Amino acid sequence: MKAPKRLLGLVSLVGAGALALGLAGCSSNGNANTGDSGKSGDLVKVGFVAVGPEGAWRQANEKNIQDTFTKDAGYDLKYAPATNGDQKSQIDAFTSFVDSGVDVILLSATEASGWESTLKRAQEAEIPVILLDRGIEPNDTSLYITRIAPDNVEVAKEVGAWAKTTFPSGGNYVVLEGPAGVGVVNERNKGFDEGVSGSSLKKLDAQTANWSAEEGKSVMETMLKANSNNIQFVFAQNDEMGLGAAQAVQEAGLKPGTDVKIATIDGTKNAMQALADGQLSYVHEYNPLFGETALDVVKKTLDKKKVDSYIIVPSKAFDSPDAAKAVLADRKY
Ligand code: AHR
Repeated sequence: MKAPKRLLGLVSLVGAGALALGLAGCSSNGNANTGDSGKSGDLVKVGFVAVGPEGAWRQANEKNIQDTFTKDAGYDLKYAPATNGDQKSQIDAFTSFVDSGVDVILLSATEASGWESTLKRAQEAEIPVILLDRGIEPNDTSLYITRIAPDNVEVAKEVGAWAKTTFPSGGNYVVLEGPAGVGVVNERNKGFDEGVSGSSLKKLDAQTANWSAEEGKSVMETMLKANSNNIQFVFAQNDEMGLGAAQAVQEAGLKPGTDVKIATIDGTKNAMQALADGQLSYVHEYNPLFGETALDVVKKTLDKKKVDSYIIVPSKAFDSPDAAKAVLADRKY
């Protein structure tokens, strides 16, 4: 993956993201610039190949995209959520968007691999593709315009660095992962391992809990039993799994936040409340609200202007109850 180009962020945040906001080619009346790719006044046809119901983060992200690409803004967005996270349903939706001749396709991939031939069909039809959140493997940047996402490696590296600092004398930890085959899972493992390297922390186990609180709880119950409760830290790759793990810790007679510290990624309201209450110990935002950035990238793309191949969405870390309380009241997701 090409090194993401970083522009100075408006505030110092993890990964000083390159925001597309300054890249926009907004038309004077605020409507989409269709450039020479579409007749002015017609709505820009957008095919959104989405993940669909998955948890609070996904709901916030997909709502933000749909709330941004409105008819008033000059867009006719067709939303196509996957059927039970099934990649074939995404490929079918993607292909039908190509065949119907949309102007641009937004893709949040359920699986990282298996996209080459589908993306090539869009390329042959000269339909630009923009990746939202999820990357593809192998990462052939010639097959898409850009990927818009917080930097998973950097975010997870921050979690690892926090764990290394929090456990100077080491301890046992486990990892609750998202589903196998999802690009962000590999990126988060890579970043976390970099951040925690050189520490005395010992990894006892890593298993998927499929982004879910229920599975996070049951997997954590099993891990606690298998290790006679001798686990001091949990890295949960999303909030729901971390909240489920906190329940399992509690039911095992241990105190979340004291006996077992839990760090999560996403920054959704429930996790921020749990951080404020001391149930979680660290929450790293993975900001889902990048609809305006996506809109600016679409405008620029349809106006045939160049954008970076990876646009990083800035995301903050929260490492104390006070930090969570400071933002809870105004939290947008
Ligand atoms: O791809 C982002 C991940 O997908 C989020 O961290 C998780 O909550 C969502 O399901």
